[in-house]
Amino acid sequence: MDKNFTPAEVADIAGIPKTQLLEWEKEGKIPPIPRDEHNHRTFTAEQVSSVVQLAGPVIRRRISVVNQKGGVGKTTTTFNLGACLARRGQRVLIMDLDAQANLTISFGHNPDDIQKTSYDLFTDDSVTISQVTVKTDYGNLFLVPADIRLAGADAKLREMLVRERILDTKLEPIRDAYNFILFDCPPNLSTVTINALVASSDAIVPIETQFYSMKAIDDLTSTFDLIKRKMNHAIKTWILPTKIDRRVKVHTGMLTMLEQNFGGRLLTPIKTDAKLASAPMIKAPVIYSYPGSRSAHDFERLTMEVLAQ
Ligand SMILES: Nc1ncnc2c1ncn2[C@@H]1O[C@H](COP(=O)(O)OP(=O)(O)OP(=O)(O)O)[C@@H](O)[C@H]1O
Ligand SMILES: [Mg+2]
Repeated sequence: MDKNFTPAEVADIAGIPKTQLLEWEKEGKIPPIPRDEHNHRTFTAEQVSSVVQLAGPVIRRRISVVNQKGGVGKTTTTFNLGACLARRGQRVLIMDLDAQANLTISFGHNPDDIQKTSYDLFTDDSVTISQVTVKTDYGNLFLVPADIRLAGADAKLREMLVRERILDTKLEPIRDAYNFILFDCPPNLSTVTINALVASSDAIVPIETQFYSMKAIDDLTSTFDLIKRKMNHAIKTWILPTKIDRRVKVHTGMLTMLEQNFGGRLLTPIKTDAKLASAPMIKAPVIYSYPGSRSAHDFERLTMEVLAQ
């Protein structure tokens, strides 16, 4: 499962020159770097993590993966981006905020068997973030699961004061514990979604170009504007076209339009790949289940784009 990294890759991830790595090794700031059978230096994910921390300033970002439209690839994006970031040495927490609990299931959990989930975090004052965080099989990657009760969270939250800031407040104790926190939002603009946005520095909006509607983006943009006005909180928004088939003319036309509308905010699209549809069933991110595949490559590239921002 574990990939090793070349010094060039590590330097790239940590945003430092390669020579700096070798200097740190000489100065003993990092442990001697193991060599492979060809005597090339090779880093484990854990060592990459220590280099990233040493390189500072530590990246700390919270990203909502959000679109009120269903089935556009939010969960697929959260799952695969989270796994790629973690493999690149980042400490990552991903939170399932959808009552369907698809993300939780993707990690091999049965939502009915879990004691405490994001629902408890939202609705019970005494429940802390560490009580609802579980380990995954992927080293630096941690999960807050969801369950079906989350569908009733909005009704409960309505009675609470400052109900849009519950999540942000609950995350305060772990502010320095993760490089990335990703929120897999439900397909609606509920109080839970607003909570994720209020707690986020960035939003990635996956869109399916064949069903692309300017109205959905408009509604979402109005929500971002509202949060900015009411809470004085600006969110950096990124558009991620998903399930792209460049052979289909309508896709190409939509991509051109998106480029005109969103320019620098447009991420490189994720192509349609049947492997992505099957990956959650075998419960592994595509970089592990189909390394070297088209979608593994797409998510690696997305990860580099996210790290570069
Ligand atoms: N690039 C892709 N190529 C092929 N299939 C994809 C791709 N991305 C996602 N899918 C498939 O599309 C379906 C919907 O994806 P996903 O569950 O990630 O969307 P979602 O936005 O989270 O949906 P919901 O709104 O219901 O939570 C899934 O079956 C998934 O496997
Ligand atoms: Mg989903």
